[in-house]
Amino acid sequence: MLTETRSFPPAPEFAAQANAQAHLYNEAANDRLEFWAHQARTHVTWKTPFTETLDWSNAPVARWFGDGTLNAAYNAVDRHVAAGNGDRVALHFEGEPGDTRTVTYADLQREVSRAANALASLGVTTGDRVVIYLPMIVEAVVAMLACARIGATHSVVFGGFSADALRSRIADAGAKIVITADGGFRRGKASALKPAVDEALTGDSPVEHVVVVRRTGQETAWAEGRDVWWHDITETADIEHTPVWVEAEHPLFILYTSGTTGKPKGILHTTGGYLTQAAYTHYNVFDVKPETDVYWCTADIGWITGHSYVVYGPLLNGATQVIYEGTPDSPHQGRWWEIIEKYKVSLFYTAPTAIRTCMKWGEDIPNKYDLSSLRVLGSVGESINPEAWMWYRRVIGANTAPIVDTWWQTETGAIMISPLPGVTATKPGSAQRPLPGISAEVVNDSAEAVPNGSGGYLVLTEPWPAMLRGIWGDLERYKDTYWSRFEGLYFAGDGAKKDEDGDIWLLGRVDDVMNVSGHRLSTMEIESALVSHDFVAEAAVVGAADDTTGQAVVAFVILREEHAQNAGTAEGSESIQIDLRNHVAKEIGPIAKPRTILVVPELPKTRSGKIMRRLLRDIAENRTVGDATTLADSSVMDLIASGLSSKARS
Ligand code: WT7
Repeated sequence: MLTETRSFPPAPEFAAQANAQAHLYNEAANDRLEFWAHQARTHVTWKTPFTETLDWSNAPVARWFGDGTLNAAYNAVDRHVAAGNGDRVALHFEGEPGDTRTVTYADLQREVSRAANALASLGVTTGDRVVIYLPMIVEAVVAMLACARIGATHSVVFGGFSADALRSRIADAGAKIVITADGGFRRGKASALKPAVDEALTGDSPVEHVVVVRRTGQETAWAEGRDVWWHDITETADIEHTPVWVEAEHPLFILYTSGTTGKPKGILHTTGGYLTQAAYTHYNVFDVKPETDVYWCTADIGWITGHSYVVYGPLLNGATQVIYEGTPDSPHQGRWWEIIEKYKVSLFYTAPTAIRTCMKWGEDIPNKYDLSSLRVLGSVGESINPEAWMWYRRVIGANTAPIVDTWWQTETGAIMISPLPGVTATKPGSAQRPLPGISAEVVNDSAEAVPNGSGGYLVLTEPWPAMLRGIWGDLERYKDTYWSRFEGLYFAGDGAKKDEDGDIWLLGRVDDVMNVSGHRLSTMEIESALVSHDFVAEAAVVGAADDTTGQAVVAFVILREEHAQNAGTAEGSESIQIDLRNHVAKEIGPIAKPRTILVVPELPKTRSGKIMRRLLRDIAENRTVGDATTLADSSVMDLIASGLSSKARS
């Protein structure tokens, strides 16, 4: 393909000033552990310096910098104030309704200290879990850092998840406190958040207090004794707080993500190694110059990108950044570009699905704004197709800003594979090379590295500092999910190929995980949500290619007999679709709603009863159905196809 041979060498002026230089690769290759020890000393301030870099004797659970002690909030905030940078802006907050707030590092130190004292006054201590369920507002950042400051483990739940999803995460984490808001602003309206918390806490719950931020001012039900206002407990709290020094392996956070089974996994990250890699990658991949750059990552803090590249990476580097509460099209489709112009954003990090959406809206919109401040553009969440890459470069980056396509996962904690701006000649569509210090490979079924020009499975061959330390409460599942497929190798779940230069191209998931708008969704989780509806006898879910969202959720359902009749009529079928989509939104969250629901009489299964999703994907993507010879009943596909086409005719 022509697109694969295109490459964009770095501009000499950029390369000369870049944080990252090519010798990093050599240093890391010469002595990987010494390289990481050096990064840990450069990017992190330790209370007690570590003497041991890596202990892998208990593999696959790593100990990095194990005998060092530190505090994440101190590293993100206090040390910048101590260095004389208290007046530097940490956060330019832009609310969706247009309200703004500027928070300096000194402000942040006060706010975080107060919140830490307030949480302590509610009985939160080192080792406790705190669930955070907030919109993208300043308090979300403050709440995470306040937890870290007292050594409590935060578990942020994306505000778009439902009460049921929140309930199961609270229970699994055993959270003592939930921090939420009355609501947030989205698409010009105040939407409520607190009612979902109230619903999630009915019946048995480990939660003792709910701390509520007033964001919208809407009416909120109140449980006396349990609920407290954020402002009541923080405004009166002391502005002095001594951070709790924790060991490097102290749990910093748990973040839930979807796997191949119905039950989300609580991915556990610890402190020293995670912070080291978050800061190192943010510094080198985005080339951040804290005195002059303005950085903006559009991710919500509910996802790993928000943890590593809104909170910990940028703040450890003492950067100035924008955080924005709302959607890109509110109140108009130029909102993002308007924000870039307003704050002179220089480093911008977003997802391919957002870029494709903006492409669809047309380049006239970004062309109306002055985007000349931009100098590095990042992409994350899924492979960026070469067309979107070229558009991003030309329309947003004025044909000059290098694009960094960053591959990583919730589990890896930080960026693993990416170009280095100023060093790498970038190729549209490829994440290219593991970063210095990271070891990745593409292997075949027998765990052998494939030659250049071939495809296989992406694996990580050496432990890395920000790697997950396990799945909360389930060590076996950790070993089983990531370390059992290939002996001694971390299996990422992604397919990949190496081109003739050895550069890595990601090809999407090879397991039952879908990627919708850069969000990870499990086919099984949505199937269980569907079959929990009274009408549904059986369900199969596949991810089908979609021009904007990358993949879209397509569900095939068999209805219980008494409802199947009704589905035959046009109105009946439509109302069932609406019912089922709403049901999935309730069980998981609106992001998991199927784009299409097809009512079918049968599902294609192998003789051992396994659903052949491959065949369903063929239907969902309007392809001729592939090899169906392993089906238990080969007439099933005809039955499904004829049922669907007759419906299309009616
Ligand atoms: C999965 C991880 C990492 C933060 C966002 C998603 C896919 C992520 C890329 C990329 C191709 C990518 C992979 C990965 N993915 N970035 N640059 N190119 N694929 O985090 O929810 O943990 O999902 O996202 O399939 O396994 P996540």
